[in-house]
Amino acid sequence: MQPSTVSAVNAADVRARHKEFLFPCVANYYEEPIVLTRGDGCCVADADGREYLDFFGGILTVGLGHCHPEVTAAVEEQMAQLGHTSTLYPTQPIVDVAEQLAKITPGKLKKSFFTTSGTEADETAILLAKIFTGKDEIIALRHGYSGRSLNALSLTGHSPWRLISTQVAGIKHALSPYCYRCPLGLAPDSCGVRCAKDIEELIQTTTSGHPAAFIAEPIQGVGGFITPPPEYFEIAVGIVRKYGGLFICDEVQTGFGRTGDHWCGIEHWGVEPDIMTFAKAIANGAPVGATIATPEVADAFTGLTISTFGGNPVTMAATRATLQVMERENVPKRAAERGRQLRAHLEAFKEEFAFIGDVRGMGLMQAIELVEDRATKEPAKGKTNQLMEAAKRHGLLIGKGGLYGNVIRIAPSMLVTEAEINDGAARMRRALAEVK
Ligand SMILES: Cc1ncc(COP(=O)(O)O)c(C=O)c1O
Repeated sequence: MQPSTVSAVNAADVRARHKEFLFPCVANYYEEPIVLTRGDGCCVADADGREYLDFFGGILTVGLGHCHPEVTAAVEEQMAQLGHTSTLYPTQPIVDVAEQLAKITPGKLKKSFFTTSGTEADETAILLAKIFTGKDEIIALRHGYSGRSLNALSLTGHSPWRLISTQVAGIKHALSPYCYRCPLGLAPDSCGVRCAKDIEELIQTTTSGHPAAFIAEPIQGVGGFITPPPEYFEIAVGIVRKYGGLFICDEVQTGFGRTGDHWCGIEHWGVEPDIMTFAKAIANGAPVGATIATPEVADAFTGLTISTFGGNPVTMAATRATLQVMERENVPKRAAERGRQLRAHLEAFKEEFAFIGDVRGMGLMQAIELVEDRATKEPAKGKTNQLMEAAKRHGLLIGKGGLYGNVIRIAPSMLVTEAEINDGAARMRRALAEVK
């Protein structure tokens, strides 16, 4: 990594003032949080000069690695030229990005609305579905995550993220296709995808029979990279459409090649969404949320609404540059190749360490679920925390997730090299060996 050009940072002072001046819910990883000061590709450095391999990429957000020079240059150039316009005026960057999104998304998705986060992208999608259908009820998934507005908290299928008991009315949670912990106690090879079929009874018994939409992630990210069986979405979306509902596909984590071979995670399952949402990797770290819909659906949204910062020329320039690099580097293909390599390491770890109960994911979105005992599948939360700390000691940053806090999430930059995957896996193995 290049030497730092920023003035020295006192890590202890940053940690102390973080505690004093930020809400306690702004929680950091690790007993002693890492004060990051620099990043370059898959590497980051902290204020004490330690370097780490970053295999969580700012929560699947720096898809091209830290400080990609073309994204940085695009931001610098746009900021020097025109930093903000609001959406009252059309700009070149916003139309370039909207056109590119229409090109890389599946089916008839074409018209976009830009915001500044995944939460807002999902809010926009839900509002649009309600406006288009004239209906109010939404089907979401248990173990799903949608963000931190009241609507998003209510859509989210995790009690720890809900925080308050008052929820938005009209949201019903269907079973998660969580095969490792099947909610119906069935086995994947003989279950007949009953979790998807149960949506029909959910609609018949808990809604008016006319849902506005079904919102789901192709792989449940915060849920612990829960990967559905291949038939799941065709069945689930087929049922929702039979009752007049739209399908909102949340690609906030899975979008932009992350799952390998395709730009969008849902393309693995052969289902065309009516509305799709993006954020995270869309601009390699700049705050952008996007909601794209078919023209028929999008054109229903004619009332007054505005996102002051949505579609800002600087963040759109970052998005345009990010998408250009992603296309040139063919990140879906790279994610598939490096994902296979990473997966092989994780499968080998499962052979070696009995506390790894499950390995799952697609492309460069891979997880291991830690258990106390493979037979009982009791979640091993303590071991997960130990592994996080051990990986940190070995200079590897990884993520945590899952309802029970026992899933390790691994999602490095999609430009990660073969050597870096092997290096990260070697660090991971040393960390796993230290878990008691
Ligand atoms: C699938 C999914 N949707 C929505 C969101 C909310 O995004 P944001 O944190 O940018 O509001 C997240 C965030 O992790 C997410 O994973």
